[in-house]
Amino acid sequence: MRKYLIAGNWKMNKTVSEAVSFMKILKGAIANTASVEVLLFPTFTALYAVNNEIKGSDINIGAQDVFWGEKGAFTGEISPAMIKDTGCSYVLIGHSERRQYFGETSEMVNKKTKAVIAAGLKPMVCIGETFQDRENNSTFKIIEKQINESLVGLTAEQACSVVIAYEPVWAIGTGKIASPDQAQEVHVFVRKIYSQMYKDASEKIRILYGGSVNPDNISNLMANPDIDGVLVGGASLDTESFAKLIKHFNN
Ligand code: 13P
Repeated sequence: MRKYLIAGNWKMNKTVSEAVSFMKILKGAIANTASVEVLLFPTFTALYAVNNEIKGSDINIGAQDVFWGEKGAFTGEISPAMIKDTGCSYVLIGHSERRQYFGETSEMVNKKTKAVIAAGLKPMVCIGETFQDRENNSTFKIIEKQINESLVGLTAEQACSVVIAYEPVWAIGTGKIASPDQAQEVHVFVRKIYSQMYKDASEKIRILYGGSVNPDNISNLMANPDIDGVLVGGASLDTESFAKLIKHFNN
């Protein structure tokens, strides 16, 4: 059985004190989270303080990016071991904003994924087509290419530790969520690609949907059997709406 996962990507938002007070409130607002894993991706600068705040709670944290090197002359970069040292268990890799604004390629995503797994952290690898890709009927071709290139060289066991986040670029921050059918169709396709690459891993991996998820639309989306949770941007910044999203899984 795959356990549901709800993750919040804060992107470039919240100071350290804002991040800590969010966790303080969230800890108190969520009671039983046995049926869902709760995860937040704060900014690098808030990770250490946030980790102190969530100790003993059911909240997990992850970093929004990573560099694949172990240490050395890479000004501005952060290694997997440094991320682990702050108490993170996950790393978000290849978000479309990183691909779009910072030139991140699937080859880089692959290097980061391998380095993160080697450090004992869990990678959450983002994939997704642009509006133009969808208009051109190349959604599946793009998804297949992103998966092949991002995961090349992983063993089946390593591939099972990856969480895939399907985030159609046209749905991110636009209020235009993919329909439950559109999302389900891509999730089934991802499992098919996985089964070609890794056989049994396809039933084990968790595939999240991301893009304009909010407390009003989560129920329709989560009615699909191949959607194992959500990666939330805007609606994860507010404790009330994030707690409502978590509550969906506990009902
Ligand atoms: P929104 O939920 O704001 O559309 O962002 C989605 C996202 O990019 C999460 O990684």
